[in-house]
Amino acid sequence: MTRFIAVVSGKGGVGKTTVAINLGVCLSNAGNDAVVLDGNLTAPNVGIYLGFPNPPASFHEVIKGDEPIENATYMHSSGLKVIPGSIRFDVFDDVNLSRIEKSFNKLKGYSETVIIDTGAGLTSENKAVMNMADEVMIVTTPEFAAVTEALRTIKNAEKQNKLVLGIVLNKVHSIRNEISVENVKTMLGFPIMGMIPRSEMIKKAQIMKHPVVYSDPQSEVALEFSRIAERLK
Ligand SMILES: Nc1ncnc2c1ncn2[C@@H]1O[C@H](COP(=O)(O)OP(=O)(O)OP(=O)(O)O)[C@@H](O)[C@H]1O
Ligand SMILES: [Mg+2]
Repeated sequence: MTRFIAVVSGKGGVGKTTVAINLGVCLSNAGNDAVVLDGNLTAPNVGIYLGFPNPPASFHEVIKGDEPIENATYMHSSGLKVIPGSIRFDVFDDVNLSRIEKSFNKLKGYSETVIIDTGAGLTSENKAVMNMADEVMIVTTPEFAAVTEALRTIKNAEKQNKLVLGIVLNKVHSIRNEISVENVKTMLGFPIMGMIPRSEMIKKAQIMKHPVVYSDPQSEVALEFSRIAERLK
């Protein structure tokens, strides 16, 4: 059976794509046949972050029915399988949301785990993509604006009967967080699965088109991603 885990947030830019690709590599290193799917249909970044900026076939073409899922699957040098989106300007215009379910059905049995990177907030396309997951992982930074939006996303996940796995607190500063970890936990009401420090290593890895767990596996951030992946078992 294929496990569908969506990485979601209320606010944009909190680190969903970073979390999705790093957990994907951790799972695949552990022998799990995982694939990271770009479900951010309006602003897809998975391909850009992993060195497939303009793939000949993408998830957008799969949704449209123009390409089989196999043609839109690429292998990163880490061994991670990815299904990127298209960055073409016109591509989202003719994506029919009613076809999303059909495309996700094609992924059943295709991989052991599908990690779905999503867009920020509760747009109709995001809700449609999130609805395809069984489980969701919430990403937020320790800032009021991000945490309040995360709460809205959690409420939507509960309305969609999804299992909320917990919170990944990202871009954590050693001393200067707008909200304490305890308060994030209290406000959101779910366990913290892991805390990723704000780190230049992540930026450095991104420039190389590698997840940090691949480029710098012994770094503090990489080890925390590995611990989060362990909790997915
Ligand atoms: N822990 C971190 N430390 C430093 N920079 C980070 C960290 N996590 C993510 N970033 C950087 O923050 C930016 C946003 O991250 P990312 O694209 O993963 O967020 P996102 O939630 O997917 O954004 P969007 O909502 O636009 O899809 C990127 O430039 C990324 O390199
Ligand atoms: Mg993203």
